[in-house]
Amino acid sequence: MLHLLRSAVALALVATVSHAALIVPGATWTDTAGKVIQAHGGGILKVGSTYYWHGEDKEHNSGSFRAVSCYSSTDLATWTRQTDALTPQSGTSISSSNIVERPKVIYNTKNSEYVMWFHSDSSNYGAAQLGVATSKTPCGPFTYKASWQPLGAQSRDMGIFVDDDATAYVLYASDNNQNFKIAKLDSDYRNVSSLVSTIAGSTLESPGIIKRNGVYHLFASHTTGWAPNPNKFFTASSLSGPWSSEADIAPSGTRTYFSQNTFDLPLGSNGIYMGDRWRPSLLGSSRYIWTPLSWSSGKPQIVWADVWNLDISAGTYSVVNGTSYEAEAGTIGGSAKSFSDTGFSGGKGVGYLGNGGTLSLTVQGTAGDHWIAIYHANGDGSWRNTTLSVNGGSSVSIDQPDTGSGHVVLSVPVKVTLKAGSNTLLFSSGQTNYAADIDKVIVY
Ligand SMILES: *[C@@H]1O[C@H](CO)[C@@H](O)[C@H](O)[C@H]1NC(C)=O
Ligand SMILES: *[C@@H]1O[C@H](CO)[C@@H](O)[C@H](O)[C@H]1NC(C)=O
Ligand SMILES: *[C@@H]1O[C@H](CO)[C@@H](O)[C@H](O)[C@H]1NC(C)=O
Repeated sequence: MLHLLRSAVALALVATVSHAALIVPGATWTDTAGKVIQAHGGGILKVGSTYYWHGEDKEHNSGSFRAVSCYSSTDLATWTRQTDALTPQSGTSISSSNIVERPKVIYNTKNSEYVMWFHSDSSNYGAAQLGVATSKTPCGPFTYKASWQPLGAQSRDMGIFVDDDATAYVLYASDNNQNFKIAKLDSDYRNVSSLVSTIAGSTLESPGIIKRNGVYHLFASHTTGWAPNPNKFFTASSLSGPWSSEADIAPSGTRTYFSQNTFDLPLGSNGIYMGDRWRPSLLGSSRYIWTPLSWSSGKPQIVWADVWNLDISAGTYSVVNGTSYEAEAGTIGGSAKSFSDTGFSGGKGVGYLGNGGTLSLTVQGTAGDHWIAIYHANGDGSWRNTTLSVNGGSSVSIDQPDTGSGHVVLSVPVKVTLKAGSNTLLFSSGQTNYAADIDKVIVY
């Protein structure tokens, strides 16, 4: 009896913890086996109450085709890797020396099959094709069908949208990425049947669409290679347009919080922006930037949250609040310096960290694992890193993406173990280079 009671309590605790579906944009996101999730340029498919996330496996840190992975989840936060949905086939356009990017899977009722669309290309991106594969199950393995140029023109970064009437559309960058196109699929979802809309000269890629109150909201980035840019939205009452002029989905200086749109998921009355924080020098360490979208201004805007909680059944989200600690309030050591900058909270930050320069911050905690977000700025166009030691423990290295010109401040999350009461966070740099300037730290 006592044992039963104990296990019931233990189960209740586990259930409580796993119910908190926390999403931490930019974190090292691991699956239920503890491995870093490899599903870049991905898309989400919902089957019943299960979500499937198909994406590019880039564990080999290369742009060439390794696999289209497939993960499943019921809360969009806890993901279990399933069998690979698509793997290289030698002698075809999807061999391991080719490019397979941005896989998106939709379900075709007519044929009772799942259809995967993807950007199919040669290693120098010269082929510029769409690819299609089909399967009877969400994770496949899918059977590769063909790669071709839709309606005889180029197609590179793409997305898929299925309308309320089950008509599906492919959205793609065409004509040397100059013209953005929307084309209708046939009733099998296996081929393109007609061009619906062209946004000429728009240089858009990596698109997604959310339809809300009868209005189509097209999300897309511009074309700056792996580097981030301010992603945009356009609206229209018909997929054939006319499309509105472009508008930002996030403060433009943040370059979409250093991310590129890959999929836009309707959820409740809001929706989720899903982006990639590409790291071209180490592609498999590219991170996922998933944020809530707010429409309270009448326009879709990214809600920045270091940590947020998703209630999938209610279709609602809540931003988790933390406690903020300004860098300039800490103890500065060695050559580190505090400086004034109106772009920093409190009007100040701390720089020259590394090369002997250190910053020590005292933060309050409860015993256990916590997410902390380190707000930094690094305008020189290259990634930096800082080391962090908690309470004198071993140092971890934290990557700090460049934050663009104008001393824009961005945050990077890291999970640390705190003790109850006061804790010491010591920032330094293990390298001879300097770390980024630090604005503040938020403990969640
Ligand atoms: C798509 O349709 C076109 C026009 O009918 C045809 O030429 C082409 O072979 C089809 N492609 C595939 C992959 O079925
Ligand atoms: C977080 O703080 C904001 C602003 O103070 C508040 O509106 C919100 O309710 C808080 N969220 C939670 C989950 O406590
Ligand atoms: C930290 O950044 C420097 C370049 O600024 C790089 O050489 C070094 O490899 C990075 N360290 C880690 C652990 O990523």
